[in-house]
Amino acid sequence: MTVQEPHDTIRRRVFSGVQPSGDPQLGNYIGAFKQWVENQDAKENFFCIVDLHAITVDFDPDALRRQTRELAAILFACGIDPDKSTLFVQSHVTTHAEGCWILNCVTPVSWLERMTQYKDKSTGQESVSTGLLDYPVLMAGDILMYSAHEVPVGDDQRQHVELTRDIGGRFNRLFGETFVLPEAIIPEVGGRVMGLNDPNVKMSKSYSHIRGHAVRLLDEPKEIQRSIMRAVTDSGNEILFSEDPEKAGVNNLLGIYKVITDKAERDVERDFADARGYGDLKRRVAEVVIEELRPIRERYYELMDDVAELDRLMAVGADQAREVSEPKLEEMKHRVGFVLPG
Ligand code: TRP
Repeated sequence: MTVQEPHDTIRRRVFSGVQPSGDPQLGNYIGAFKQWVENQDAKENFFCIVDLHAITVDFDPDALRRQTRELAAILFACGIDPDKSTLFVQSHVTTHAEGCWILNCVTPVSWLERMTQYKDKSTGQESVSTGLLDYPVLMAGDILMYSAHEVPVGDDQRQHVELTRDIGGRFNRLFGETFVLPEAIIPEVGGRVMGLNDPNVKMSKSYSHIRGHAVRLLDEPKEIQRSIMRAVTDSGNEILFSEDPEKAGVNNLLGIYKVITDKAERDVERDFADARGYGDLKRRVAEVVIEELRPIRERYYELMDDVAELDRLMAVGADQAREVSEPKLEEMKHRVGFVLPG
């Protein structure tokens, strides 16, 4: 058997995953979803809603079910086009759990105990699931079974992508060339949105319950306006990009404006040359955010009104994902010596 190359040898293949937990917010949109949408033509994309990962820590089944559909609807509403990209739910494609088992058996436990996210999530917990320790192997399988070249993730996932290379490399050495070893694609600092209440902390779903921390993607214009008008700034009045931690609040607002309007820093600063103070800055940033999110919110509610259609779209994605990952799983099984069913 030979290594299966990605179908499309011209476009690079991309795999990314997002957990269906918490409310998606502006940080997810700017740091991930917006770029996923923009890359749909240049690359061959697989986007996965990772519900198997979501059950590695405390969770509520009803919330998980609701959030999985909501996240799918949000991603389609943001512009993920099922004719261009594959968007699917991880548990719909059983190769992920099966491939994970085989990879478990080539992964030393000591590699997993070293993961900083595991240490962060497990310290202080009364009980830690085996799944939490195994989380990075499941993620490695997600990536390796699609022969992805690129994995766009936040900086906190860099170590997991490195581990994916280690696991894939070890499998290749033990059983012959099977996997493409992927590269993490980390958004530059400018692509990172910080908390409105604390501009030195990344805007995160984990804090989106804290008032004033985030703009949630489904917030009504009034709420968006209110959150941005309350954003923490400094006591000055200069509206310029800056690395100064004191100015992180203003820098963050300018960064949001820059990404949404797709302008160069110089042009952004010029736009605000006539602004009178931070009140003006916030009003204008709120305006572009509101207009950017308005069509997304509208499309989201249309999709959620027709759950049967949403479920159909998810089924189409799962079929496309199986087409790629099933042959790779077969190859893995063959390589480790399983007798394939006749
Ligand atoms: N662990 C990732 C996160 O929390 C989500 C994820 C799961 C993922 N599988 C993936 C990301 C595969 C990229 C590729 O952000």
